[in-house]
Amino acid sequence: MAVAAAQKNREMFAIKKSYSIENGYPSRRRSLVDDARFETLVVKQTKQSVLEEARARANDSGLDSEFIQDGIHIGNGDNTPTVEDGTQQDETKNGHLADADVGDNKADEDYTLTEEEVILQNAASESPEAEQAVQQAALLLRMRDGMGSLARILKTIDNYKGCIQHLETRPSQVPGVQFDALLKVTMSRINLLQLIRSLRQSTAFAGVNLMSENNISSKTPWFPCHASDLDNCNHLMTKYEPELDMNHPGFADKEYRERRKQIAEIAFAYKYGDPIPSISYTESENATWQRVFNTVLDLMPKHACKEYKVAFGKLQAADIFVPHRIPQLEDVSSFLRKHTGFTLRPAAGLLTARDFLASLAFRVFQSTQYVRHANSPFHTPEPDCIHELLGHIPLLADPSFAQFSQEIGLASLGASDSEIEKLSTVSSGIS
Ligand SMILES: [Fe+2]
Repeated sequence: MAVAAAQKNREMFAIKKSYSIENGYPSRRRSLVDDARFETLVVKQTKQSVLEEARARANDSGLDSEFIQDGIHIGNGDNTPTVEDGTQQDETKNGHLADADVGDNKADEDYTLTEEEVILQNAASESPEAEQAVQQAALLLRMRDGMGSLARILKTIDNYKGCIQHLETRPSQVPGVQFDALLKVTMSRINLLQLIRSLRQSTAFAGVNLMSENNISSKTPWFPCHASDLDNCNHLMTKYEPELDMNHPGFADKEYRERRKQIAEIAFAYKYGDPIPSISYTESENATWQRVFNTVLDLMPKHACKEYKVAFGKLQAADIFVPHRIPQLEDVSSFLRKHTGFTLRPAAGLLTARDFLASLAFRVFQSTQYVRHANSPFHTPEPDCIHELLGHIPLLADPSFAQFSQEIGLASLGASDSEIEKLSTVSSGIS
């Protein structure tokens, strides 16, 4: 469940831009470092626009403005629609919380949702059942006036039919704030949102923050803990390529795009533990491989390092690297497993740097299976299986390179976007 929720939150902020200079990609030629920088930028922009949209919705929404009045009504002794079982007496007592501190003009002010609240609000808006679903949450309240407001907070939570799981206080280090209170509560999502809003109306608090609990925030990145979790690490940077990239040689070739899509579908359907499905490559695809393979053979003696040459020789000896036939990923995977414990899983395109690096932590390399366009055998704007097989695989069969790759992968788990950028710099320096 937690994984599914995290996955959903990630989808909300998923990258929806393809690589292109028009979309802000820094250069014509691609590199893992530029990819990671682009990813950071796009994730930031996407997050910003998702949050702005949600905030605008919150400010426009009738429900929310009605609730602002609720906050004021609590103090006025009027009925509050969300507090069905609250008595008049309770509300009056409880009114101190929102009452005297709330100026009338507060209702007209913009209400700024935090990222956590946007996620909560989106989860609540899915259906009436989702709205009423009980959510566990942690709230950090900065209390200006000492413990006096604590009793009123507890009563308010009770009125919103919340259940307190944990409460602790400490003297605050924030100037002008006497105590910080950490409250863990369970209550329906809709009531939780309204409770936060209500508390924010009061000047008794210098801050009311919803903290991340049970993956309601995307600030702490979810990361895979087992190789099977990599089923969730298939986010692509190039979702719309070659459809969107006019420089892609397959841009105007409908048949090519169809074939590429068909092969990419295998990756989307793939689950941990499955054997990697074989592809019956066409004559033209095998011919493209042959041209690149023979060129690499020519260039290798002068340009390749010792480790690459040794592993390449082993792949030839195992009858995996042959000129006339594109190797099948399953055969390559078995070969790598034997030499360094690395395995392959199919990828549908260029992965986000975060997902690519996370796989390395489990000694898994995500490899595309489709082949570049026949008209451009020596250059492809996106990774294809020829790039993976001739570019990456030989070094993954080298024990020290494999070890280093895994260590970079481990360092990436749960890392921030800027740390992922730095790790991509290291990773691209060695690949
Ligand atoms: Fe690559």
